[in-house]
Formats: sequence, C-alpha cells, structure tokens
Amino acid sequence: MDFHSRIAIVTGVGHGFGRAICRELTARGAIVHGCDRNEAELAETGALTGAHITLVDVTDEGAVNRFVASVADREGRIDILVNNAGGVAGQVGKPVETVSTEEFDQVLQVNLHGAFYFVRAVAPHMKARGYGRIVIISSGAGRTYSLTGIQAYASAKHALVGLTRQEAMELGGFGITVNCIAPGFVLSNPTSIRQFEAMGKEGQEALVKSIALKRLGTPEDIAYGVLYFASDLARWVTGQVLSIDGGKAIF
Ligand SMILES: NC(=O)c1ccc[n+]([C@@H]2O[C@H](COP(=O)([O-])OP(=O)(O)OC[C@H]3O[C@@H](n4cnc5c(N)ncnc54)[C@H](O)[C@@H]3O)[C@@H](O)[C@H]2O)c1
Repeated sequence: MDFHSRIAIVTGVGHGFGRAICRELTARGAIVHGCDRNEAELAETGALTGAHITLVDVTDEGAVNRFVASVADREGRIDILVNNAGGVAGQVGKPVETVSTEEFDQVLQVNLHGAFYFVRAVAPHMKARGYGRIVIISSGAGRTYSLTGIQAYASAKHALVGLTRQEAMELGGFGITVNCIAPGFVLSNPTSIRQFEAMGKEGQEALVKSIALKRLGTPEDIAYGVLYFASDLARWVTGQVLSIDGGKAIF
C-alpha cells in the first residue's frame, strides 16, 4: 500500500496502537500529524516514527479545532483521520450503583466526544476535496461487553459504531468513507497489562485458548487493518466494523 502524498491525522499516538499506526503510515510515505495529551510519550512517538506531533487533549473541542485547522493550513488538505485516542481514563470496573456521573461522563468524553470533535472538524476539509478516509477505533467492547467491566467504556465503544454508520451515510456522497475497527485484547497499555497479570496463569491460558489463532494481538495487527481502510483498496467499503481479534468474535 502506498500513502505517498497522503496527509493523515492520528489521535492518541503516545503508545500502543496509535504509535504503531503512525509508524506503518509514515513507513508507506504518508505525512502524519499525531496528537496525544501525554507529552513525553508523544515526543517519543515523534522521534521513533517521523510523525509531526502536537499536544492535544481530545476532550477539549477548541484544541481539537485549532489542531485540525493548523494541519489543514500547513498541508492544504486532510486525507485521512484515524480516531484512536480513548481508553478507560484510569478507571476500573465496579458495581453500577457505585459509578458516579462524573466517572461515566469522563470515559464518554475521551472515547465518544473526542471522536465526534475530530470527525466534525475534518469533514469540511474532506468534503471540499471530495476525498476522505475516516477510521474509528472502537473495541470488542463495542460489539459485546467489556472485559474491564466498565459500563461507560462499553457504552462509548458501542456509540462509536453508531457514529461510524451514521457518518458513512452522511459523508459517502462526498467521496468520504467511514469505517471502524473493533480490536480484541492487546497488551498495549498499562490497563490491559494489569488486567492480564491479574488473570493469573490459568486465566491467561483460558483467554488465549478462546482465540481462534491462539495468540494475543499486537499493535501492528490493529494498524494493518487501519492501513486497509485508509487505502484506496477500500474505496467501495464504508460503514463497516472489522473485528481484529484473532478470531474471538468469529460470528
Ligand atoms: N489494548 C486493547 O486491548 C484495546 C482493545 C480494544 C480497543 N482498544 C482501544 O484502542 C485505542 C488505543 O488503545 P491502546 O491500547 O493503544 O492505548 P490506550 O488505551 O492507553 O490509549 C491510547 C492513547 O490515547 C491517549 N489519550 C487518552 N486520553 C486522551 C485525551 N483526552 N486526549 C489525547 N490523548 C488521549 C493516551 O495517552 C494513549 O497514548 C483506544 O481507543 C482503546 O480504547 C484497545
């Protein structure tokens, strides 16, 4: 796949999937503008991948708008948006009756509102050129339930599937595709690593056994799906949700 002359924005590039997506896109010629709210990890991604980096909190709509406008000003266009920033905002699963409104809202803000702010900001630029590729990172939790037990996380990731389908219908006539990836369990962030450790040896073996391909995924496994949706090979594919999970959600 060749991304020469393509301008891409990738969110949440500090580590894990976001960093791998930056690496795979820049390696194939794309000019990537990545953002994150973790300054040190962001700088490391810039150094490792050659992506341009900007400190942005995706829950701050003004900051998102300024970032997107600055990329459009500098590059003259935006071809690709990969909405990857998300996660559990440091929370752990607990009984629903003990979850505060603020906690619920915080997870929605990062995963759902952040994605909405970015889609809203890039849409006029993509429409103006009649071309765009939007890829949204949901989760297996957006198709079934979350292993974390966090109600807001499953809710937000389901909502991202809705956002994908709605925007695919809305933007398709402008040459813009909108697709979604639902990753399985990957040891790419402190939360999933902690969760895996807490499973103990037996739990870990059971998890791997439940995966058709008998291994956990890597950030690159997720990035390769992003490359497909972002490429011209996927020119007649929109509104789709692709599970990349080693065959866990096989139906
Ligand atoms: N790792 C998994 O097992 C898994 C599975 C399914 C889905 N996902 C999703 O994939 C995406 C990437 O996950 P990951 O495991 O690579 O790392 P992650 O969940 O830790 O988050 C990715 C990045 O988002 C950044 N981020 C968080 N809040 C932000 C904010 N408000 N503004 C800007 N940046 C912010 C973090 O600093 C981090 O670098 C997330 O959306 C996550 O929910 C992960």
